[in-house]
Amino acid sequence: MTERTQTRQTQAGTGLGFGALFSKHVISARYVAGAWSGLEVRDFEDLRFSPAAMVMHYGQAIFEGLKAFRATDSDEVLIFRAADCARRFDRSAARMAMPPLPAGMFLDAVRTLVGVDVAEVPSVPGSSLYIRPVMFADEPSLAVRPSTEFSFLVLASPVDSFFASGRTMIDAYAQSSHIRAALGGTGDVKCSGNYAGAMAAKADAQRHDCDEVLWLDAREHHYVEEFGAMNCFVVRGSGERAELITPPLAGTILPGHTRATVITLAGRRGLTVLQEPIELGQVLDDGGPVSEVFACGTAAGVAPVHRILTDTGRERIIGDQPGPLTAQLAADYVAVTHGQLEPEPDWIIR
Ligand code: COI
Repeated sequence: MTERTQTRQTQAGTGLGFGALFSKHVISARYVAGAWSGLEVRDFEDLRFSPAAMVMHYGQAIFEGLKAFRATDSDEVLIFRAADCARRFDRSAARMAMPPLPAGMFLDAVRTLVGVDVAEVPSVPGSSLYIRPVMFADEPSLAVRPSTEFSFLVLASPVDSFFASGRTMIDAYAQSSHIRAALGGTGDVKCSGNYAGAMAAKADAQRHDCDEVLWLDAREHHYVEEFGAMNCFVVRGSGERAELITPPLAGTILPGHTRATVITLAGRRGLTVLQEPIELGQVLDDGGPVSEVFACGTAAGVAPVHRILTDTGRERIIGDQPGPLTAQLAADYVAVTHGQLEPEPDWIIR
């Protein structure tokens, strides 16, 4: 086993970071001649495939991200929104001309991995086992057409803080020379290429001392769409009149499961939630109605935004502390994922 793939036993809560350590096993299946094999439990080790494996040339690959949490009041392990991930995985596969998994295989694989690596689900608050299902084309061919062979793998990583800076509030950089997605593209599915195409913008954001990109719409660069690999919410107004707003799922935005969870949790608190376009100008307006901004995603949870900077030199400090609704929704999210708040049916599997 090489240094790179060596797994390290988790020391829960001791600066796990994100995606640097891996649990001991991987679940795998292969698709060949039009059919999927059964699932296999394997050690976490380097893979072997052809230099001509199609994924390395044309990037036909999709993935998911979900988390297993330790319940606060018991030793139970709760896997959050796995059924939604399975459905989105199928949608991503269809968009990328990849075969669907047999019914139930995604959930079986996730449950099996959490079962064999259950000792690696950390228990310190703020930590979890991040589960990464992935499917990629591994037929050896340079032909430009969908692959006929695929691998499906599920691996896992004990994690805590998503942001390399360790910050709990993030700074975001909005610029118009990179765009994430346009209508008809792949922005609303979870294909690996979406993330590859975003790396240069992320590096640019980091050069400007920001944690994430604030993606704008492709046509006018006028509306905010997403933060890095996370969905975007703003609070308009305050007190009784506060409204929570997130851009609509109109084809360029990834339908995030944390996004959907936050919408439900906000509704339970009686908040008005609107899915409508959000103008960058409004978000940047210091005296304007936008009082709070946060990003959310499986990996990061609910991440309050501290500052937004643009490539035209505009800057707004949203706040040095999370706003009251952001803090409330972040706490609700932690509570529901740790079994402290009633989930909706099918949010949690064990
Ligand atoms: C997630 O939040 O799970 C993501 O997919 C974002 C990222 C780690 C790629």
